[in-house]
Amino acid sequence: MCGIVGYVGDKDCADVLVDGLKKLEYRGYDSAGIAVFQNGEIEVEKSKGKLADLENKMKNEGKPSGHCGIGHTRWATHGEPSDINSHPHGNKRVSIVHNGIIENYKQIKDFLTGKGYVFESETDTETVAKLLDYLYDGNPIETLSKMIDKVRGSYALGILFKDYPDTIFAVRKESPLIVGLGENENFIASDVTPILKYTRKYYLLEQDEIAIIKKDSVKIVTPENEEITKEVLTADWDVDAAEKGGYAHFMLKEINEQPSKIKTTISPRIQDGMPYLEESGITMEMLKNSKRIFIVACGTAMHAGMVGKYVIESLARVEVTVDIASEFRYRNPLIEKGDLVILISQSGETADTYAALKLAKERGATTVSVVNVKGSTIAREADKVIYTHAGPEISVASTKAYSVQLSIMYLFAFELAYAKEKISKERCMELTKQLMEVPDKLAEVLELKERCQFIASRLVNAESLLYIGRGLDYALSMEGSLKLKEISYIHSESYAAGELKHGTISLVTEDMPVIAVATQSNLLEKTISNVKEVKARGAKVTVICKEGTEIGKDVANHLVTLPAMEDMLMPMLAAVPMQYIAYYTAALKGCDVDQPRNLAKSVTVE
Ligand code: G6P
Repeated sequence: MCGIVGYVGDKDCADVLVDGLKKLEYRGYDSAGIAVFQNGEIEVEKSKGKLADLENKMKNEGKPSGHCGIGHTRWATHGEPSDINSHPHGNKRVSIVHNGIIENYKQIKDFLTGKGYVFESETDTETVAKLLDYLYDGNPIETLSKMIDKVRGSYALGILFKDYPDTIFAVRKESPLIVGLGENENFIASDVTPILKYTRKYYLLEQDEIAIIKKDSVKIVTPENEEITKEVLTADWDVDAAEKGGYAHFMLKEINEQPSKIKTTISPRIQDGMPYLEESGITMEMLKNSKRIFIVACGTAMHAGMVGKYVIESLARVEVTVDIASEFRYRNPLIEKGDLVILISQSGETADTYAALKLAKERGATTVSVVNVKGSTIAREADKVIYTHAGPEISVASTKAYSVQLSIMYLFAFELAYAKEKISKERCMELTKQLMEVPDKLAEVLELKERCQFIASRLVNAESLLYIGRGLDYALSMEGSLKLKEISYIHSESYAAGELKHGTISLVTEDMPVIAVATQSNLLEKTISNVKEVKARGAKVTVICKEGTEIGKDVANHLVTLPAMEDMLMPMLAAVPMQYIAYYTAALKGCDVDQPRNLAKSVTVE
């Protein structure tokens, strides 16, 4: 949430900053700004709206020219999106960009108002900018050290002090920040995507470490000004991964990447035909001894956890509770030593999921994170981490990250079931083999693009939609419904098909299209009965089922037929038409698919 970049080197700073912010726009896109040293003065340009608005403004009014500066793309928390509330904040002496939330901003503001400071914006960030100005005594490290003592909350900060025109200062607490290490140029950024074009080497800034970044040197110190030796990390994402590569939107590109990303995620975890999570520290012993399992996550990641629950419980016969992280953290959950808490997160930075992780650790549970971003907070702080290898996911609506999370849920369930002696080695190998076939089957499913496009054309004018299913199909329909509503702004609900009659069916009319997922053979008849019930009330129904399923015209208006696999694995295939339908509906409506209204990826605030 909110993206930060900083650059110092020989290139035109404004260009590098804007280019870097483009890579981070998925973190927030309601306003943007930069601050650049021009002839020793801090020059600021900022604008409400997308980065393109800032670019246009600079085209008309001129851009600051210099070689050292900071930039920001915002997702508003305190104060509406406006020019004034945009970052950078500060004055001619100190300028900052901030990601996170300052919890005690009110006290700081009152204190500084008493000292004669006048505030222009409604942001919490401005209080830090003014506090730094108040504390500044010519020594940036001492100033930042005092600030760390006084400020509560989460922050990643990029800072310019007028007296140091060739230097970026940076500090973080909870919100992520890296320092990119180039040749005669250095960077700061919220993640590695803006620096990949220039370098793969970077430092991960830890809590309260202060970075002093110049063109030809990077020094990291403690608040007590003791120098720290840091490990240089190497990013393994491709430069191309953060580009659209000819697709109209990142979302479409990412949907199409799913077969290869699933392959890259599962292949290293399969040995001699058996799931092998040992490299992530998940031993057979640990699985055998695990008691209850909690899966905690937000959004799409939580939906992957729902599928995980059904699969783990049915195969391994272990009790699984799935929780929304923002609920889990405040409901005083009954977890204890011996429980296994699995945290799923694409970004590895989601504030609520991170809080759930801390709580689980406090209560003595063993924590395992399933994370896509290497070195992220949740990945580092969980007892064990299983990395998914989706590469950078830029579209705010998650697609490939979901699929790879599902693939890990399956591998985990297979290995757990085997460790608990609930399935034989042969059965475990058979299931693993089928999972390995998913990428090829998915390539076939991706060919259903035109079918889904057609269905989308029938949904585009709907005001409200219903997604229904039973069992795994219900878990999947939750994700299908979220996908559609988040990017097309059409209201949609997912419902357990058998529960419809208990209230929600009263909403069904000919104006409410229904999408039914019916891939589970043992539940097929039941689901079809529910479909007939909505059809009888005028609804136009799309049924997503697998090859060989007999669905009459009296049941479905539109059919999407998937290649057949074992029922349990069908969610891996059925996710794709759901994603396509959401994508094409939003695209046909002319929505901003990759950057939907009000949303952001990497939600680092509660
Ligand atoms: C946001 C994103 C979703 C994502 C959720 C959890 O809401 O828009 O796409 O599923 O956060 O994010 P995480 O990074 O923890 O998977």
